[in-house]
Amino acid sequence: MATHHRSYNYQASMPFAREPLKTIYVGQRLLTTILMVPFWVLYYAILPRSYRPRPSWSLKQIVAVNFMRRIYKVTERAGVTWGTRDPDALCDNATLKETRFEWVDPLPEELRTGIVVDQQVPFKRVGSFVWPKQKPAEIPDCSPPGDSNTSDIVLLDRSDIEADAGRVPIIGIFLHGGGYCHMSAHETSGPSRIPRRLMQDKAFTEIHAVEYRLLQHAPFPAAVQDAAAVYAHIVRRHQRKPSSTKSASSNGSNSVSNDLDKNTEMSEKQDFLTVDFDPAAAKNRKDNKDIRDRVAQAARLKGCKIFLIGDSAGGNLVLALARWIRDEGILPAPDGLLLLSPSCDPAHAFPESPSSYVPRPHASTDYLVDTPEPRALLQRTFLGHNPLETMHSPYVSPASMRVLRAFFGDAFAESVEDLTIRQLDAAEIDRLRTMASAPSTPIAETPSWSRSPTPALDGAPLERSPTSLARPIIASPRGLSLFTDFPRACIVLGDAERLEREVMKLVGAMERDGVDVRTVWVEDGVHDVLQMAWWDERVRDRVWASIEEWVREVGEN
Ligand SMILES: *[C@@H]1O[C@H](CO)[C@@H](O)[C@H](O)[C@H]1NC(C)=O
Ligand SMILES: *[C@@H]1O[C@H](CO)[C@@H](O)[C@H](O)[C@H]1NC(C)=O
Ligand SMILES: *[C@@H]1O[C@H](CO)[C@@H](O)[C@H](O)[C@H]1NC(C)=O
Repeated sequence: MATHHRSYNYQASMPFAREPLKTIYVGQRLLTTILMVPFWVLYYAILPRSYRPRPSWSLKQIVAVNFMRRIYKVTERAGVTWGTRDPDALCDNATLKETRFEWVDPLPEELRTGIVVDQQVPFKRVGSFVWPKQKPAEIPDCSPPGDSNTSDIVLLDRSDIEADAGRVPIIGIFLHGGGYCHMSAHETSGPSRIPRRLMQDKAFTEIHAVEYRLLQHAPFPAAVQDAAAVYAHIVRRHQRKPSSTKSASSNGSNSVSNDLDKNTEMSEKQDFLTVDFDPAAAKNRKDNKDIRDRVAQAARLKGCKIFLIGDSAGGNLVLALARWIRDEGILPAPDGLLLLSPSCDPAHAFPESPSSYVPRPHASTDYLVDTPEPRALLQRTFLGHNPLETMHSPYVSPASMRVLRAFFGDAFAESVEDLTIRQLDAAEIDRLRTMASAPSTPIAETPSWSRSPTPALDGAPLERSPTSLARPIIASPRGLSLFTDFPRACIVLGDAERLEREVMKLVGAMERDGVDVRTVWVEDGVHDVLQMAWWDERVRDRVWASIEEWVREVGEN
């Protein structure tokens, strides 16, 4: 859980990210920020409430937001990452109070299709911190790899569970926030406040917090691979056997029958996920009936409800995982998406031209900073070897203007544009525009995509795998719209947060594609309030109550 001071590639063109400037800069910012605190307290204590960023805020909230804003600026400029953990490191259960640490095998071969496949990004085993510490009785054991006799016993146990399955376990997969470069899934990490509260309120049977690879460790699609591995693991662990194959032998007394068992078990697993299914053929089909039927069958055999939960960048990863599951049509869909201030337009740091850079709203009320240069560099590192066009893939920026325009046309893309931006003062807009067009940034170069016309959905030939990263195009396979067949979603956002506009676009686009969306507003809320050390607890309690009511509703039908 150490703060890392290592240098990464993306910091090469950031002067404050190099020593000795880095230490001086960080030290100076920290010191002045601490010195500012008494000043802020005095200033806002004297002024009438209406002068506060939001009249409802307490002095403590104002100080917290101002403090965090200054610290965030340091983080972005100096490339400091905090609260991270090595994703390859084992975590000793004895050091954990609320969770247990488990390894999940790399994504199985037969599921390696679509955007998760990348020659330069290897599939790896994934660590996950599982809430609660003691495995609940209704959770089946995981089959240890290669131990076929044990897994057979587990399979039989599982069908016993199935017999009296009135209520199935509610499983959460939690993907933490932190801009793909901070934080971890460890129980002591800030975002763990989210699974902790959901478990305390008994909204879930179990929550798996995934230690996915951050951009320091591997570029896109590493994080999606890791999240997908945990999803596949949970689906398999809870799979019910189709009744026709229930007679599987549980003999394992000699090596021959051991091998037979292994084969039976393998084919059962493949039956479940890929029975009569040729992914290559399905991709070329224009109608989705095949895939719908097969996934519906898989969903009936899924002995649990799965919710994907993510805050901030974790929300971005939830959207990418849900898209991969839908696009590939091999795994059954999750039951719900819980998106907390999801980041859904990272392409924002890459405007089509420097002058078209429009700052995000609520500069004066949120702690998130709009510093396009460091953001753009971070995003570039996130993409790694992928072409810059990948920034505009629906897998990366599902609510960017370019993506919305490609699917819904200009009218829709413009109509969701909110008005808050016009309330920013002109000086602030100018300052940000100047920053965005600074000659040292990659934004100033002419990106290759600006020379080619926007690929339209209907113009995209469907024979080519549309999710291939080799030539990313803004389209969905099988002619689906941007969010067709996405699971029900609960989207939480603050009305004082910088991501308000992009999240509203996300909500608009999902609803337009027929997704059942529950929007929960955090009154006078900044970005990602649920993971903050504290906030106005009355406000937060209301938000938790709304979320948990939604989880119950989705869990019950
Ligand atoms: C931690 O405990 C769980 C069960 O409680 C076990 O499955 C897991 O393998 C243990 N992890 C380690 C790293 O020992
Ligand atoms: C185990 O194998 C023996 C023969 O090797 C067979 O008679 C017996 O029925 C098998 N048991 C089960 C449960 O399949
Ligand atoms: C199960 O398999 C393991 C090896 O994987 C073996 O040591 C053990 O004896 C087997 N158990 C039974 C009951 O066959």
